[in-house]
Amino acid sequence: MPDETDPGEGTKSGSSSGSKSGSKSGSKSGSVSLDTILGRLVVEQGLATSEEVRKCADERRAADDPSHDSLAELLVKRDYITPNQLERLRGMVEAERTGQQIPGYRILGKLGAGAMATVFKAKQLSLDRMVAIKVLPRKYSSNAEFIARFYAEGRAAAQLNHPNIVQAYDVGKSGEFHYFVMEYVEGSTVFDQIVRHKRYSEKDAIDIAIQIAEALDHAHQKGLIHRDVKPKNVMLTKEGVAKLADMGLARAISDKEAAEAEAGKAYGTPYYISPEQIRGEKNLTPAADIYSLGATVYHMVTGSVPYEGKNPSDVMHKHLKAELVPPDHVNPKLTAGVSQVIEMMMAKNPKGRYQTCKDLLTDLRAVRAGERPVIARSEAPASELAKLAAEAARATGEIPVDKSTPTSPWSHPLVQVIVTIVVLSVIVNVVLLLLLTLA
Ligand SMILES: Nc1ncnc2c1ncn2[C@@H]1O[C@H](COP(=O)(O)OP(=O)(O)OP(=O)(O)O)[C@@H](O)[C@H]1O
Ligand SMILES: [Mg+2]
Repeated sequence: MPDETDPGEGTKSGSSSGSKSGSKSGSKSGSVSLDTILGRLVVEQGLATSEEVRKCADERRAADDPSHDSLAELLVKRDYITPNQLERLRGMVEAERTGQQIPGYRILGKLGAGAMATVFKAKQLSLDRMVAIKVLPRKYSSNAEFIARFYAEGRAAAQLNHPNIVQAYDVGKSGEFHYFVMEYVEGSTVFDQIVRHKRYSEKDAIDIAIQIAEALDHAHQKGLIHRDVKPKNVMLTKEGVAKLADMGLARAISDKEAAEAEAGKAYGTPYYISPEQIRGEKNLTPAADIYSLGATVYHMVTGSVPYEGKNPSDVMHKHLKAELVPPDHVNPKLTAGVSQVIEMMMAKNPKGRYQTCKDLLTDLRAVRAGERPVIARSEAPASELAKLAAEAARATGEIPVDKSTPTSPWSHPLVQVIVTIVVLSVIVNVVLLLLLTLA
C-alpha cells in the first residue's frame, strides 16, 4: 500500500491547473469546501460510509497542524480509496467547483487537461446535449490581449462546419473563468493510440491524414490556420472518424508564448511545430499546418517523433537545422511514396512544401491507391528548389540579383566613356589617314 503516494500532484493534471492545490495543503483557506465536496463524493460513490469519512475529517481537524495529512491522504492511508480513485475524485472536485460557475451547463466530470487548460464533459441543459468545455486557468483572465484573441478565434472557429472538425459552439466568461464549448467526442486521440500501439499501419495513417487534410482545407479556405496540429489534437470517434480539435484556440496565444509555457514541463514538447512558427513569423500560410500534419503522420507511421531532443529548445533547433531521417529509413515497411509525401510536407522552407491541402490530398489519395505521388518526387531536390525560388521571386515581383558579385565591367559609365573616346579617336585617325593618302 503506497504511503505518501499523491497521484494528483506533479502529474499532467496537477501541473495544468493550480485550482486543486488546496486539497493537498488541506488547512489553508478554501480547503474546507474542497474537503466537504471530496467527502461527499467518496460517500456518493460508495467508497466509504459517511461515518468513516467523518472519522477521517475529525482526525484531520483534531491534529490542528498544517503539515498533518490532508483528508485525501487520510482516506488513502486508511485504505478507503486507492491513489487512482483519489486522482479521479480530484478531477470531479475540480469539475464541481468550476462547473458551479458556468450557468446553463451541468459539469459531469473531467475529460483531461493539457498545458493550457482543463477540459470537462458537460450537459448543455437548454439543448439536452453532451458537450466538452475547455476552461482556461485564471492566470489568463488578466491578459486583455489574450482574451480578445481567444474570443475572436472562437467566433471564427464557430463559423466552420465540417465532419472532420470538432465543432465549436460557444465562448464565454463566467465568474473568473473563460471557457470554450465544443462538440463532445466520445473516443480517443491519435496520441492515445500511438502510446498504446506504438505505430499505425501506412493505410490507417493515410486514411486519418486524408480526413485531417480535408478539415484543414476547409479551414484554410475560410482564412483560418490551425497552428497546433498534433496527435493530441486529432480525435477519433468510436466509428473511426478523425476530427481535428482546438481549431482556432492556438491563435490566442503566440507560438513563442506557447513554447515558453511548455518549456520546463515534462510534456508538450514542440515535436510538431513548423520552422516558421519557431522563427516567430507573423504571416503564417497553410504550409505551417501542412508541416505539423507531416510531423504527426511521421510519428504515426514510424512510431518516433521526427526530431528527439534533450529539451524543447533542442527539438526546435532541429526543426530549423537538422536533416530529416526519411520515414522509410526508420520503418522499412513503408512505401517510397508515403515517405516522399511526408518529406515534402516537412520541407524546412515552406515554399518547398505542398502549397495547399488540395495538392496534398492529390498525393495522399494517389499513395492510398497504391500509385506513385503526383506532386512529390524524389529526384533532383536542388533543381526543384531553384525552380521554386524563381517562382517565388516572380510571385513577389522581385528579380533575384546577387548583389555581392560585380555586374559586367562594360556596364560601368566610366568604362563606357573611355571606350567611346577610343572608338572615336580610331575613326578620326582612320579618316585623317584616308585624307592624307588621297592628298
Ligand atoms: N471535444 C472533446 N471531446 C472529448 N474530449 C476532449 C475534447 N477536447 C479535448 N478532450 C480531452 O481533453 C484532453 C485535454 O485537451 P487539451 O486540448 O486541453 O490538451 P491536449 O491537446 O491534450 O494537450 P496540449 O495541452 O499539449 O495541447 C484531451 O487530451 C482529450 O482527451
Ligand atoms: Mg487539444
